[in-house]
Amino acid sequence: MNKIIECQNLNYSYNDGKNETSILNTLNLSVNLGESIAILGQSGCGKSTLLNLLGGIDKASSGKVLLNNTNLATLNEEQITKLRAQHLGFIYQFHHLLKDFSALDNVALPLLIRGDNKKIAMIKANELLTNIGLKNRLNHRPSELSGGERQRVAIARALITNPSCVLADEPTGNLDEKNAADVLSIMIKLNQVQNSALVIVTHDEKIATKMQRILTLENGQLNES
Ligand SMILES: Nc1ncnc2c1ncn2[C@@H]1O[C@H](COP(=O)(O)OP(=O)(O)O)[C@@H](O)[C@H]1O
Ligand SMILES: [Mg+2]
Repeated sequence: MNKIIECQNLNYSYNDGKNETSILNTLNLSVNLGESIAILGQSGCGKSTLLNLLGGIDKASSGKVLLNNTNLATLNEEQITKLRAQHLGFIYQFHHLLKDFSALDNVALPLLIRGDNKKIAMIKANELLTNIGLKNRLNHRPSELSGGERQRVAIARALITNPSCVLADEPTGNLDEKNAADVLSIMIKLNQVQNSALVIVTHDEKIATKMQRILTLENGQLNES
């Protein structure tokens, strides 16, 4: 099997000046290409912390995170940024789109940043947005879109580079039930087409049941449900 992410004995704790608080405790996880995983857990249990460690945004206190078989601890910031851009797509609860840019420009941006030809980047962004039902919203800015539309643009932006793995932190947490279902089915479909891995953090059990594996984060560790 093709492992894209592996965590070995991951620990994460923080020090508030007085006490050391442990969030993740000898946590192990492996994510294969083509796999979809839900991570459930109560608010504050460390789900976002875990995703940030997987993406190299935060650093583990100890233990290893391997992204495409490379131990992130052996890389400098620049190398991590490059590896992340190569392999990962991020989707957040609040879209984090650039407000002064159109949907098309927001989606094309990751391609432009990595140096793709502008004309080709625009064509690809147009195709992907059209594919997910936003053909008539290409030139709208985020403030001119509905919540569900904004989240679809954020999905397109995360997937435009064909990442091996998409990490989504409560991607439907801000949407009503219908929009949440639509956004989820788009994510699942695109991941199947691209044979990438999908890791969704959620506290919505309905979403979790649509994933192949359901893991629960509790007391700093992941358990298979
Ligand atoms: N550097 C830090 N300083 C203070 N508190 C932190 C720090 N890092 C994480 N936390 C705390 O760790 C816990 C886990 O946070 P988080 O990963 O955001 O949880 P979740 O996403 O599951 O709601 C929270 O209680 C948060 O306040
Ligand atoms: Mg969180």
